[in-house]
Amino acid sequence: MRLRQVFNNLIKCKSPQELIEDGSNSGLKKTLNVFDLIVLGIGAVVGTGIFTIIGSAIVGSSDGFGAGSAVIVSMVLAAIASVFSALSYSEIAAMIPVAGSAYTYTYATMGEFMAWMVGWILMLEYAIGNITVASAWTGYFVQFLKGFKHILPDFAVNCPLWLRNDYRTMYELCRKYGWDVHDKMPFIHLPFLDIPVAINVPAILIVLILTVLLVRGVKESTKVAAIMVGVNMFIIVSFIVVGAFYVKPENWIPFAPNGLEGIFTGAFVIFFAYIGFDAISTAAEETKNPQRDLPVAIMGTLVLCTILYIFAALVLTGVVPLGAIDTQAPLAHAMRFIGKDWYAGLISVGALCALTSVLLIYQLGTTRILFAMSRDGFLPKSLNVIHKNFKTPHVLTWLSGLIVIICALFMDLNISAELCNFGTFASFIVICIAVLILRKTEPDRERPFRVPFCPWFPILGIITCFGLMYCKFSAKATSALYFFLWLLIGLAIYAGYSYKSKRKEDL
Ligand code: ALA
Repeated sequence: MRLRQVFNNLIKCKSPQELIEDGSNSGLKKTLNVFDLIVLGIGAVVGTGIFTIIGSAIVGSSDGFGAGSAVIVSMVLAAIASVFSALSYSEIAAMIPVAGSAYTYTYATMGEFMAWMVGWILMLEYAIGNITVASAWTGYFVQFLKGFKHILPDFAVNCPLWLRNDYRTMYELCRKYGWDVHDKMPFIHLPFLDIPVAINVPAILIVLILTVLLVRGVKESTKVAAIMVGVNMFIIVSFIVVGAFYVKPENWIPFAPNGLEGIFTGAFVIFFAYIGFDAISTAAEETKNPQRDLPVAIMGTLVLCTILYIFAALVLTGVVPLGAIDTQAPLAHAMRFIGKDWYAGLISVGALCALTSVLLIYQLGTTRILFAMSRDGFLPKSLNVIHKNFKTPHVLTWLSGLIVIICALFMDLNISAELCNFGTFASFIVICIAVLILRKTEPDRERPFRVPFCPWFPILGIITCFGLMYCKFSAKATSALYFFLWLLIGLAIYAGYSYKSKRKEDL
């Protein structure tokens, strides 16, 4: 009998109506329109993927083969996986326009336990994703500062490397110059473990500044994002236009040096560049007309970014021979390669803008998902406080900022990007399943937007996302192991805290 009760609790769903009512009582200000949402979308999508990770997708890393020039095929594959999920996101986001993204939709379809697990997985996408972006931000910032070496104060030029580099770069420097990590990095001593850390000051400062901005209010933050999105769009378009004149078609040959394995691994890696459009749905409660604006913004963002990426990849692989592609700042390096040094500097500025807006929007996403989870009783209610004047969840905003700062001390950029991809694929699969379930359980609910060719499109979404995850699992990548570990920790927290906390709520 007791077992049956536990099982019933695990599959207990929240009705879409209940979710919408909770959302309308949230106290969050409704200020965003379709333009704000597209800015939010592009700001969240265009960033580390196209400015940094594209290099590893082309060349490969210690954990997998690169796609070579066939990265454009990888990009199309990643875009296809994203389109099916974007359509599914659009249908549900317009139908249940409340904060919390995939977490909220899972609660409406698959019950309490799956909702918790999806919320926990979304933390991989948003918070762990932001660790990747914060680390890449430092790389471009340092590159940008190099141009001003002669006017910088001495301490900025001579300070220890671990104060101005991210964790992965510190390891790469140690490997490159044969240094001992113990000499070059400080260690945190735990009872059973000594952890080397990089106290990456630029990343810490930018996350702190953005946290303050977010506490002051969403509208203000999206204004800042709009300016940065404008700058980075201009930079990428001009990279394509300037670089197009230097393309040598022979650089595209061999097209796929590592065959299908390289293309699929490349698709898994470059998927990071597409993540983010779902952040739009996390701002549903702050949107003036969510039913109309959410689907338009989600699809618009995805189509625009896909076109831009494919052209940028064609130019990059056409300008720089495969063996010479840089993995830390590939676009800036391509411009240096054709002798346009001043333009390489400009690209660093564009990259900094792009990465800053991704950071801003991902932190917004982390906060809003945690907000929905604590409102539902999975996390302590004390976190769920709205600031009296700014009407923003300030405690959670600070908490998400601190999580990024602390984890960026000891996480490798490539591993955090791949973990983020795992989390996002898993949440996309859940969204596609949720569409199929809701079509059965709520057939009459108004759907301002419907996924075409249902059930085939959601099913194709599930297959493509699962297929790309499988590539990485079968390669026994470190990130795949960490992903399982993350799921186990989530399970333990649910069993140890959240399940009981929910039962107290039921009384
Ligand atoms: N798509 C985002 C980026 O590339 C996460 O930074």
